[in-house]
Amino acid sequence: MPPEISKFAQSLGGSTVVAMRRKADALEADGKRIVDFGIGEPDFNVPPSVQEAAIAAIQSGQGKYVDPAGLPELRALISRFEAQHHGTEAAMENIVVTNGSYGALSMIMRAILNPGDEVVMIEPCWGPYRQMIRLCGAAPVGAAMPVIDGRFVVDANCIASAVTARTRAIVVNTPWNPTGRVLSRGELSSIAGIAAQSDLWIVADEVYSELVYEGAQHLSVASISQDAADRSIIATSLSKSFAMTGWRLGYCIAPPVLAPVLTKINHTTTRCATSIVQHAALAAFEGSLSDVAYMRAEYARRGAAVARGLNQIEGVLCPVPEGTFYALAQIPESWAGSEAIAEYLLTEAGVIITPGSAYGPSCENYIRLSFATSIDLIEEGLALLRRALPPS
Ligand SMILES: Cc1ncc(COP(=O)(O)O)c(C=O)c1O
Repeated sequence: MPPEISKFAQSLGGSTVVAMRRKADALEADGKRIVDFGIGEPDFNVPPSVQEAAIAAIQSGQGKYVDPAGLPELRALISRFEAQHHGTEAAMENIVVTNGSYGALSMIMRAILNPGDEVVMIEPCWGPYRQMIRLCGAAPVGAAMPVIDGRFVVDANCIASAVTARTRAIVVNTPWNPTGRVLSRGELSSIAGIAAQSDLWIVADEVYSELVYEGAQHLSVASISQDAADRSIIATSLSKSFAMTGWRLGYCIAPPVLAPVLTKINHTTTRCATSIVQHAALAAFEGSLSDVAYMRAEYARRGAAVARGLNQIEGVLCPVPEGTFYALAQIPESWAGSEAIAEYLLTEAGVIITPGSAYGPSCENYIRLSFATSIDLIEEGLALLRRALPPS
């Protein structure tokens, strides 16, 4: 027998989205056609100016280690971008460039947690938060949110009742995966209020900040008040907004006491984010915002189409997404659980959806559809779903 593996590492589970994709791969290998509403990854290619900047960076020998906090010129550009687009005041000293927001979030958890601590997650929520918290020997605590008119909303009382003497942080994700919601000022203020009252960090995942539709506006919890800014750590990336998922470039915006700690963790764990991609990211912020606007308009059209198609199915309620590229639809309790429905839709209809149960128990009677796929595939998939549902 080899020596024992860390018990924190052993507590890690797998990804439902990846598991669904692997099952679909097996069906595709047998010749079955599959429409994929599972994966949260843009179908667009990386903007041309970003591609060119990456090639130029390679050819001009930029493939060396860089400052563990990130290229100074990139951090200066991010600081300006955040101020102009989100009203976030972030000096470049407060910005640390990371390996995507996965890199940012897992670093943040390491920086603020000790074994035995608890972190409150506003549920339903993206699954990897749980794993990142467990890797630190801490415990994720889900706070289930209520539903009003088919939409999950943030309720301060539900969050407050999940806070204990061990709680160190609240995770808030806006725009909100899997719900497709963009949190309002009132919702963010109530989170900031609880954090202030119990002296907690706020871990703010804003990876979908550029993907908001129909008059919705992204607001960072850090902009609510000076106190909220002092206790918020923002994690975000270029993955979703610039269609750069595999390029792995993100960043944290942290208060002055924490940014140097995050830089040390970044240095210790990865040395620095990939230099070539940091050079390409300069081009993203400088010259690709019109590409982002184009993709945003496309996603808005697709989100509306998905909601329209799902609402035509008897018993299904799907609000039009306000942000992200996910539609979250409520399904009747009388149907099988969301996991069984996902299994049924994959094998019978050839459609991948993600079961709501992946986002916490309160999301059991929901299915999530990613609309980061073409309108033609969306229409094809919706037709298959309308044929297969309600399940017989
Ligand atoms: C809510 C949320 N946060 C973070 C991420 C991680 O994105 P990345 O590491 O590519 O920036 C994702 C990806 O699906 C996500 O949905």
